[in-house]
Amino acid sequence: MTKASAPGKIILFGEHAVVYARPAIAVPVFQVRAEAVVERAEIDGVEIDAADLARRYDAREAPADDPLAAIIRSTCARLGVEPRGVRVRVHSTIPMASGLGSGAAVSVAVARALTRFFVQPLADAEISALAYQVEKLHHGTPSGIDNTVIAFEQPVYFVRGQPVESFRVARPFTLAIADTGVAAPTKIAVGDVRRAWEVERARCEALFDEIGAIARTARAAIERGEVDALGPLMDANQEWLRALGVSSPEIEILVDAARRAGARGAKLSGAGRGGNVIALIDDSVRVRVEGALMNAGARRVIVTRVEHAARFDESSGTR
Ligand code: PMV
Repeated sequence: MTKASAPGKIILFGEHAVVYARPAIAVPVFQVRAEAVVERAEIDGVEIDAADLARRYDAREAPADDPLAAIIRSTCARLGVEPRGVRVRVHSTIPMASGLGSGAAVSVAVARALTRFFVQPLADAEISALAYQVEKLHHGTPSGIDNTVIAFEQPVYFVRGQPVESFRVARPFTLAIADTGVAAPTKIAVGDVRRAWEVERARCEALFDEIGAIARTARAAIERGEVDALGPLMDANQEWLRALGVSSPEIEILVDAARRAGARGAKLSGAGRGGNVIALIDDSVRVRVEGALMNAGARRVIVTRVEHAARFDESSGTR
């Protein structure tokens, strides 16, 4: 039996503009994880046991766009193995369809568990590339930021088509991640931005430039440990995302509640229209901001510390 797991993620700065080749910053969220177990089983082919979906099925009979069957197929093809008599069990604590990268984390965990099972380790970049192929099944034109940050488990500065860059978090900082409870498929928001860009290209390009500049400034601030600079940058990024049409009343309510309760800045994270809001908080306001977000209708609040982390050790369950 072999096991592997992968964290959730949030986009700190630069969503949507990243699809148009501007930089974005994403960080792993270690409080939630997807886990995959690969084991021998008395069966003919490959059985998928997706506990969270209460589904068990034969990978060979799954449709071509089934994400679990797809990552198993592509990983085995990459390893040059024909799996038989194998069960792949998947379980995740990452909320689905809320911008926390649940799909990419499941793909990364499954691909890694298979490479361990067949004793053929692959580099993070290769695991990321396998997960990217599955992301494409669902998002159409994903930038690749989700699979990258999740496979590398480090803060990443991501520019589409360029080699991935990690960077130093000089001073750790804390974020509250609040779920609006509105499931918003990434594909729809990305498609709407595409249509807006087709109609008003100059205006959208200018917005992407503003967002890209914020991501660049934020990276420098994080590398210098200037946490104070990040709050206003989050607020400014949120303004541009609103102008792009990807905010929503639920997002605005949570952003406003976090700021009123003492957060230094807040914005949507991910595709928008729903999903999660992130707020930069000091320890002194943590309880107040969490309470304010729940009172304002958040479904769940996860508090995470962003730091330059060592990799998660799956045998001990620690980093
Ligand atoms: O919903 P998420 O967190 O997977 O974020 C999508 C981020 C976008 O920039 C909107 C799309 C992309 O592919 O990068």
